[in-house]
Amino acid sequence: MLEAGAPMNSVKKAVIPVAGLGTRFLPATKAMPKEMLPLVDTPVIQHVVDEAIRAGVETLVMVTGRGKAAIENHFDVAYELEDTLARRGKETDLETVRAITAMGHFVYVRQGEPLGLGHAVLCAKRAVGDEPFALLLGDDVFDEREPALDALLEAHRATGKSVVGVQEVPLEHVRRYGIVSAGEDGNAVWPVTRIVEKPTPDKAPSRFAVVGRYVLTPEVFDHLEKLELGVGGEYQLTDALMKLAEEGRLVAARIPARRFDTGDKLDYLKANVEFALKRDDLGPDFLAYLREIVR
Ligand code: UTP
Repeated sequence: MLEAGAPMNSVKKAVIPVAGLGTRFLPATKAMPKEMLPLVDTPVIQHVVDEAIRAGVETLVMVTGRGKAAIENHFDVAYELEDTLARRGKETDLETVRAITAMGHFVYVRQGEPLGLGHAVLCAKRAVGDEPFALLLGDDVFDEREPALDALLEAHRATGKSVVGVQEVPLEHVRRYGIVSAGEDGNAVWPVTRIVEKPTPDKAPSRFAVVGRYVLTPEVFDHLEKLELGVGGEYQLTDALMKLAEEGRLVAARIPARRFDTGDKLDYLKANVEFALKRDDLGPDFLAYLREIVR
């Protein structure tokens, strides 16, 4: 809900790339998208879509690939299931299932080959058109009590520029992320002058890592179209963002919410424990169980 007097969000489309191979989560991801792994009983991708919708987004542009049909089916009508639930009088389950289809307007584009995040975003160009859009990585989940995207939308409204959501990470983890130049101490939003993909600790401009949330202006597509292969032999979104930084068109916004990279096994386990503990129906019993087994 918007508070009275709060400015309307003008960003109505979100791109969610889900075409990656999920190799860090094999063998589970051999035949199943990692984005469909559940946090307790709700797929990771549904949490991501929910965050976008709560931030005011109406259209979700999913960049999918081979083996990702389960994601489309999850957000589509499940006729046989709904009919069976209705006949059995399972009204609550029926509502749960139908609410997923009604979350937003879904558009699917295909990325023929997983050539990197930059390439995946470029695949969404026509569906996005000439307007700013949110970009949410399909495996990064934030504690929904503090909407992560809101901080970025606010920074975009204030500056009119592209925004990367960042969090401070330990120095030994900088090689897993795009790392931006630091702002002045304590600032929540700052201009980015440099962004480097997966640097070694000695080459990192700071410990501020880009963590799966962006608000981008359509000028990013011009840079994506000119991309050359980057780190890891992939078309890197970071390289296009570096061009925006050079033009003074990129800012960083700190995301205060707790984050889980559910494509990483340890973070996935942590997310499940924390999401289960928050639940009224499971939390108390689960906590008692954890106390029993952890000494
Ligand atoms: P990741 O690097 O986390 O995903 O990309 P991955 O490649 O599937 O994972 P691993 O490292 O092999 O385990 C971040 C997001 O970008 C998407 C992924 O689906 C993920 O949501 N992505 C990545 C694409 O859509 N296309 C790509 O070519 C690469």
